[in-house]
Amino acid sequence: MKTKKERKAEFKNLLITGGCGFIGSNFIRYLINNRDFSGRIINIDKLTYAGNPENLTDIAVNFASRYIFKKVDICHAAKLKDIFSRYDVDAVCHFAAESHVDRSIKAPGNFIQTNIVGTFNLLETAKARKDKFKLFHHISTDEVYGSLDARGLFREDTPYRPNSPYSASKAASDYLVRAYHKTFGLPVTISNCSNNYGPYQFPEKLIPLSILNALEGKKLPVYGDGKNIRDWLYVEDHCEAIWTIMKSGTIGETYNIGGNAEMTNISTVRMICDILDDIKPAKDGKSRRRLITFVQDRPGHDRRYAIDFSKLKKELDWSPHESFQSGLRKTILWYLSQKKWVKNIKTGSYRKWIKEQYGSQQCSRNQ
Ligand code: NAD
Ligand code: TYD
Repeated sequence: MKTKKERKAEFKNLLITGGCGFIGSNFIRYLINNRDFSGRIINIDKLTYAGNPENLTDIAVNFASRYIFKKVDICHAAKLKDIFSRYDVDAVCHFAAESHVDRSIKAPGNFIQTNIVGTFNLLETAKARKDKFKLFHHISTDEVYGSLDARGLFREDTPYRPNSPYSASKAASDYLVRAYHKTFGLPVTISNCSNNYGPYQFPEKLIPLSILNALEGKKLPVYGDGKNIRDWLYVEDHCEAIWTIMKSGTIGETYNIGGNAEMTNISTVRMICDILDDIKPAKDGKSRRRLITFVQDRPGHDRRYAIDFSKLKKELDWSPHESFQSGLRKTILWYLSQKKWVKNIKTGSYRKWIKEQYGSQQCSRNQ
């Protein structure tokens, strides 16, 4: 009898969407160096403020025959069709999204377009490939499940109760992916993961924002009472989990991915201060904890996220390697070592470079 671990899909031309963002660029680096994958990667990315091709400069140089990058908006259906046929795409790993909750509160329109309409366009294009198409892996979030109180964990069968425009748009995209499997037989897998951290994360999210602000002696804003809990997942552990599911997961199934690292926000920010004080003490010798500033809470702020990933552990033998302490230290060391990357992000000069390389025109959102 075949066990679930024996599916072992092989992909020749894997389309990765949003590969210039935080998790997508880590995944491309992980996969292209992986002995289990000998195919070609086609990375399409619209290059919004969150997309930085500089994250992959070394990959573009060292793997020129196996890595292709195209600036494409997934809301542009005709362009997707062209890419799928030109590169004979047989699988998709779909990261592209508007991903920041605070931005979704201020301006939800792009979240609806990219996260819902863009996902729909990709599904339609994949469906049209018929038997040539092997897998659509959709990257989603635990935020679709809503908020937990002090007890319990999100399981794959936890009902969806999204609370922000971001999580609502991700929930809608998950449902579309599911529907294309059930209705049209499209081979899909879905993963819902907890908060990621690690190299190349844009400094609008809590961990990189706190690291860079602390280094500059700026305030460290903590929303509300700081007791909201997030379950942190080191990005390389996430990449390994995604690839495990893509290779061996059961078609049509959803898998939760978590890092076994529940932390209140205030503890996370304090840990960042303490690690930095240890590695690179402030010039005045004072603790960076003094920079912590409680600020007005986020509207609809989910209180607690915590993931039960026992399905992934039991069925596909995956568990995270990194503890929060070790992953956070690695992350801080990475930001300290990447002065040029940090400077380009902070000054916005990466946008200038993108404009020179790829032009400033935006793709239309027509079907
Ligand atoms: P990110 O914001 O760092 O990167 C998103 C990428 O998508 C960027 O490169 C951006 O240019 C690209 N993009 C945006 N709109 C696009 C469009 N219309 N067409 C093509 N490309 C477009 O995000 P991330 O943190 O790397 O997240 C990746 C995925 O993982 C998202 O789907 C997100 O919902 C999910 N996720 C992230 C986290 C997390 O903690 N970061 C947690 C759970 C799930
Ligand atoms: P964030 O990194 O934006 O991820 P998400 O909203 O997807 O969980 O925020 C993580 C937690 O940190 C969340 O509870 C909001 C909080 N937070 C702050 O307290 N201060 C900040 O400056 C930011 C960006 C987030």
